[in-house]
Amino acid sequence: MSSPVVKLNSGYEMPLVGFGLWKVNNDTCADQVYNAIKAGYRLFDGACDYGNEVEVGQGVARAIKDGLVTREDLFLVSKLWNSFHDGDKVEPIARKQLADLGIDYFDLYIVHFPVALEYVDPSVRYPPSWTNAQGKIQHSKATIQETWTAMESLVDKKLARSIGVSNFSAQLLMDLLRYARIRPATLQIEHHPYLTQKTLVDYAQQEGLTVTAYSSFGPLSFIELQVEKAQDTPRLFDHDVITSLATKYNRTPAQVLLRWATQRNIAVIPKSNDPTRLAQNLQVTDFDLEAGEIDSISALNQHLRFNDPLNYDIRNDTERERPLIAMFDTSDAAERAIAASPLTITLPTPTPPAFSPNPFASSTSPTSSPTLSPLSSSSTPQTITCTLSPSRHNYERSTRRNPFYNMFHIDKTSAIYADMRSEETGTPLAELADVLMRNPAGLTDSKSGEKLT
Ligand SMILES: NC(=O)c1ccc[n+]([C@@H]2O[C@H](COP(=O)([O-])OP(=O)(O)OC[C@H]3O[C@@H](n4cnc5c(N)ncnc54)[C@H](OP(=O)(O)O)[C@@H]3O)[C@@H](O)[C@H]2O)c1
Repeated sequence: MSSPVVKLNSGYEMPLVGFGLWKVNNDTCADQVYNAIKAGYRLFDGACDYGNEVEVGQGVARAIKDGLVTREDLFLVSKLWNSFHDGDKVEPIARKQLADLGIDYFDLYIVHFPVALEYVDPSVRYPPSWTNAQGKIQHSKATIQETWTAMESLVDKKLARSIGVSNFSAQLLMDLLRYARIRPATLQIEHHPYLTQKTLVDYAQQEGLTVTAYSSFGPLSFIELQVEKAQDTPRLFDHDVITSLATKYNRTPAQVLLRWATQRNIAVIPKSNDPTRLAQNLQVTDFDLEAGEIDSISALNQHLRFNDPLNYDIRNDTERERPLIAMFDTSDAAERAIAASPLTITLPTPTPPAFSPNPFASSTSPTSSPTLSPLSSSSTPQTITCTLSPSRHNYERSTRRNPFYNMFHIDKTSAIYADMRSEETGTPLAELADVLMRNPAGLTDSKSGEKLT
């Protein structure tokens, strides 16, 4: 099964269905890309910010080497991150991303957000996420026009065949279209039945831009990121309107949601770690919903946006508590610890610390990265009680570069580790995990920043 294509205003053809690379873990990424190519995917939607372009390139290179595809068969998309909006920074970073991917042109290169941040040199932190070298949110003076002019020169230099934008409003597009020498080929936006953005979609399509939907399944992708709104919103997969259509057409709810978009010429880029779902997500152009059914799905609109940068605390004045994240070396270890959760950690005072928020730790990716949610904690607790929940989010990469999480690498030999036990069974965590964590240091309270020792 392969995807039909849509012709872009740049003259190139783009598959209508692709594979999204956000939150694809580094340790599995190359294989997932390879397997997705095997399953028929040709479009891969990546970004500097996803922190996995080297591994994407490895998967692509292997598929080409094994004769599954040629470079020309593929449609590789990447994005310009916010820290590289200054006109003179666009080409160098595009060249670095191409080198990471092991290719010499992007099929499509997109401005990720209309947000210009101060430059962070890749030798300082890469990907840089939202803060500057000093860990502060600092905007750059680059205008969208300056950035777009530099994007256009990538096309002139044949580094990108098509260029596009993401997360732009209609008003920002109107502004951009006044001066664009090369019009954006695509607009990539959050688009699902809870956020239909009809006027924006209509406007972009009328202006000849192809719209690509991201997060087609609505809240699902944001639940594991602990976005509150997503946790409180009913899953689209369980909604009567979607499930009844899935039954009628003998498809999965996911396929109905994706068809709702593709039938209106909106491209989709679902991400799945699961081979069965991966294959299903590609089969979303071979059945048709009735016009009234499309309308009934669109009527679920609640203007509910999950991917709002302001949800990520991109201000310096926030008091918001950061999620705690524990990393396990193997999924088995994580599953055992999750099964024993909630866990109580007794803090042995005044012994040396055994945990640390270790956002810049260098180590290999875990096969599983549970989220630790504190049930009770204070700045100087004697015990901390935590629930552990599984997550496939690429936490290790994001915590290395993102100030909005506190990650704990648990040292198996530490006193705290030895005292961490299941509340229900009393089993010490030391007996639940095989090889626990690598980077011993001090546990710091997520709110106050004080050492908890
Ligand atoms: N431009 C931007 O600012 C922006 C922002 C967000 C995303 N994106 C792009 O859009 C892509 C897709 O968006 P997304 O990652 O937010 O989420 P998504 O594709 O809407 O949803 C991913 C979630 O849905 C699950 N899933 C996938 N297929 C499924 C199926 N057939 N049945 C049931 N569950 C299924 C996945 O779990 P499993 O893996 O377990 O299947 C995962 O939890 C990203 O990867 C990225 O490339 C762009």
